[in-house]
Amino acid sequence: MKPALIAHRGASGYAPENTMAAFERALAMGANSMEFDVQQTKDGKLVVIHDSDLKRVGGVRGRVGAMTWAELSKVDVGAWFGPSFAGQRVPRLEEVLDLAEGRAELQLEIKNPERPYPGIAERVVNLLRTRKAWDGKVCISSFDHECLFLVRTLASWARIGYLVGLTRRETALREVREVGADSVHMSSRQADRRWVEAVHRDKRKAFVYTVNEPKDYERLGRLGVDAVFTNFPDLDREEAAA
Ligand code: G3P
Ligand code: CA
Repeated sequence: MKPALIAHRGASGYAPENTMAAFERALAMGANSMEFDVQQTKDGKLVVIHDSDLKRVGGVRGRVGAMTWAELSKVDVGAWFGPSFAGQRVPRLEEVLDLAEGRAELQLEIKNPERPYPGIAERVVNLLRTRKAWDGKVCISSFDHECLFLVRTLASWARIGYLVGLTRRETALREVREVGADSVHMSSRQADRRWVEAVHRDKRKAFVYTVNEPKDYERLGRLGVDAVFTNFPDLDREEAAA
């Protein structure tokens, strides 16, 4: 079976990553699962952006965690991708939930950079708790495994995705069991038959990022990977494979 496709940062091959334009584009393309990154402003608002600073996508200096929402919301994070996307802003997590409700599952990655965001796990869990429509349809992932354990403590109901990162496989598998993760998320480079089989033996799903080439998608399909994160939600179309 072909691995399912998860629109990575929205349809970020076609629109600026982690913007409403990218999420709208992914949904319009028929994506039924979308990934995005969550960080926190200085005044405790949950925002959707990958980098911990604004340099690459906003062209300005400033760290997300050192800016208020009022400051961050003024930054244009679309123009870097193309003039037609000028004016795109960093979305609030609530906006993405509103847009996707009833249309797609979500892979919500909590980014905890050098300086972890105080209270981010609690805020994410509390928000999801108030949104019953999202029951079972959001998977919370992170490279920060302490954060995942905290999520589990706060929410026995949470679906958890364990991002392996630099953790050794044996340690990762032990933590995956302890935290009760549904899925193990590994990079394309890390994905090999032994690792995918180990994850499946443990009754977890194997997800792989970031897969933008048809030949890589085919290889991962042969390994039995369950889903891939891709910037191109049409990666599985016939012409792409040709
Ligand atoms: O969640 C998979 C993938 O998004 C992790 O890497 O750097 O794109 O957030 P990154
Ligand atoms: Ca991510």
